[in-house]
Amino acid sequence: MSAPVELLVETLGAGGDGIAHWQGRTVALPATVPGERVHARLASDRRGRITATVLARLADGQDRVAAPCPYFGACGGCRLQHLNGTAYRRWKEAQVVRALSARGLDLGVLEPLVATRPARRRVVLHARRAAGAGEVGYFAAASHRLVPVGDCPALAPELARLIAPLAALVGEVRGARVLDAALTLADTGVDAVLGLDGAPDLAFLERLAAFATAADLARLSWRADGMLAPVVERRAVLMTFANTPVALPPDAFIQPSREAEEVLAALVAEGVGGAAHVADLYAGCGTFALRLAGAARVHAIEGDRAMAEALRLAGRGFSGRLTVEHRDLARRPLSPQELAPFDAVVLDPPRAGAEPMARALAAAKVARVAMVSCDPVSLARDARILVDGGYRLMRVIPVDQFVWTAEIEVFALFRRAD
Ligand SMILES: C[S@@+](CC[C@H](N)C(=O)[O-])C[C@H]1O[C@@H](n2cnc3c(N)ncnc32)[C@H](O)[C@@H]1O
Repeated sequence: MSAPVELLVETLGAGGDGIAHWQGRTVALPATVPGERVHARLASDRRGRITATVLARLADGQDRVAAPCPYFGACGGCRLQHLNGTAYRRWKEAQVVRALSARGLDLGVLEPLVATRPARRRVVLHARRAAGAGEVGYFAAASHRLVPVGDCPALAPELARLIAPLAALVGEVRGARVLDAALTLADTGVDAVLGLDGAPDLAFLERLAAFATAADLARLSWRADGMLAPVVERRAVLMTFANTPVALPPDAFIQPSREAEEVLAALVAEGVGGAAHVADLYAGCGTFALRLAGAARVHAIEGDRAMAEALRLAGRGFSGRLTVEHRDLARRPLSPQELAPFDAVVLDPPRAGAEPMARALAAAKVARVAMVSCDPVSLARDARILVDGGYRLMRVIPVDQFVWTAEIEVFALFRRAD
């Protein structure tokens, strides 16, 4: 397979790559658009699948635009910077349609993609030291090969400006190696957790503290061998939801984009509006619970102990209208009896979805379920369970929280048909 072949890109696949066929087999061509002819070199991976390297594009497809980032194509972070607005929106909506129709769900309820600006406030950057210099960036698609970057237009500027100082730190530090940096932009500044290949010694800790000051981080921690420990907290790491500040634990979950958070919070509030008693499941640090607690009694459940505790402390001012429980909802979903007091449930699970909770809801009588998901496929699976249990799917709204990537956030609203 070593001689280059000419291929025609027929469509865009589920991962955002162009799809062509060669001798009856499917070939994924990253960063191409339908209608393009390319010269590509083909190879087989260990599982016998064909992989392709695009050597030359013979003509541009009509949906192509210039990618705004010089690393696009090599970097595995963004997959869709090269599509014009219409093709981009259609592709994202089509992924939701595909997931819903695979489960036989009503496509009439799908609303257009809600756009947001690229300004991610949560990211994991990977790092390595090579030839005495530090490099920071993202992995290439489907690989652990680092693609160093000097900037990233997908990030909030407060995070992008840390790329160069982090690379300098990675290059200079002796002793433990920096493997990655998890960065979260809170309201009071950046919370950084450096993944190391071993516990730092005193000299390294002092260097890290100096780095935190020079980079004006709110807090810096390190993680190695299953431990997470602080280096320095220069300011409290706070997020404010509906006028209530929450002190975030290190590397806490917040919605990756501020704009998407506002969109999702408004959809959730509208979806459960009027309910007197709401369960917010997979509540994180209270993105939805703290907003809802002004108008309803809210019981928030979160599986991460530190985040649940942060929310409990933040919610003390609600005098019992906001209660918080630390609980693993995959292993111990609420039973139909436990669900009985609630008029509405908010579900915002991780990528794997909320299958056990969906089954419990299907057997319960909660009137409304507002669901937020970062995976249309697991959302559709759980939606099918709810619909089979007597819910009607009222609205499905894709939200472009992960701009330029193949990821899609989805809001869905269910109402008991009976
Ligand atoms: C997508 S985040 C949503 C958080 C929150 N709703 C927000 O908007 O900020 C999913 C949350 O579910 C939590 N989680 C993951 N697995 C869980 C489980 N098995 N039981 C309970 N919570 C879990 C995570 O810690 C995370 O906070």
